Amino acid sequence: TSQNPDLVAKADEAAEVIRQAAGGRPPRIAIVLGSGLNGLVDRFDDRKTIPYAQIPFFPTPTVQGHAGNVVLGSIDGADVLTLQGRFHYYEGYDLRTITFPMRVLQRLGVQQVILTAATGGVRSELRPGNLVCLSDHLNLIGSNPLRGPADPRLGERFPDMSEVYSKRLRNMAKEEAKRLGVHLVSAVYACLPGPSYETPAEIRMLRTLGADVVGMSTVPEAIVARHGGMDVLGLALVTNAAAGVLPAPIRHEDVLEAGRKATPMLGKLIRRVVLRLAGV
Ligand code: 6GU
Repeated sequence: TSQNPDLVAKADEAAEVIRQAAGGRPPRIAIVLGSGLNGLVDRFDDRKTIPYAQIPFFPTPTVQGHAGNVVLGSIDGADVLTLQGRFHYYEGYDLRTITFPMRVLQRLGVQQVILTAATGGVRSELRPGNLVCLSDHLNLIGSNPLRGPADPRLGERFPDMSEVYSKRLRNMAKEEAKRLGVHLVSAVYACLPGPSYETPAEIRMLRTLGADVVGMSTVPEAIVARHGGMDVLGLALVTNAAAGVLPAPIRHEDVLEAGRKATPMLGKLIRRVVLRLAGV
């Protein structure tokens, strides 16, 4: 394997490209945008876009509605790094590839990462357009991004996952949501491999297991970010009711459209959380 650079070497090489683009001072806060939420960066100042294709070892997204850029920018003076477009297990990548950007953030020195996602509402009270704050997750992908060789430079072999989603960040998000008049409840996110949406029986199963929302992303990134010592905040938009909750089929276009509609509200909340984290 001496011919092949290891994960740390690859992440460092990718991080170096971003560090240089950031003038040697990469942001301490990162945001990962989910389906339909790419427009969130439009209001950032001093934007600098780095296509994933220009970053060594970065995979390139294959799904419509998912761009592929690292966007450096600032929100009222607070610097943020945004990943516009993420990778999913259903695209055929393995979980290490999907979470490679999280390793790059780790090696860049990012301390807090805000993960966003479009999700289906498993609990019937959750309506399209609702925003939830992830309190915990169910990893039902059937694998784990930390499977395989362990590298002590990246984290422990058996990391604790009793608080994947930082309580401090969750409380901060709830306080800021309240100030904005945004309804923000806690939710447990069940991550399935996809790409087919679930059946009504599967949604009943997930409800029994304690899931509130369901999606096909976020959990691998959250595990790796936590493993890498970053504080994670998970904000999920309910874009639709999950199968069997309402007598309507689930369509990817509706998911994207709901994401676009809710982007300004999510943007306001993220802005306030970022300003608090940056101490601006
Ligand atoms: Cl209903 N299921 C999954 N797995 N992902 C989703 C979704 C449903 N709605 C948006 N994303």
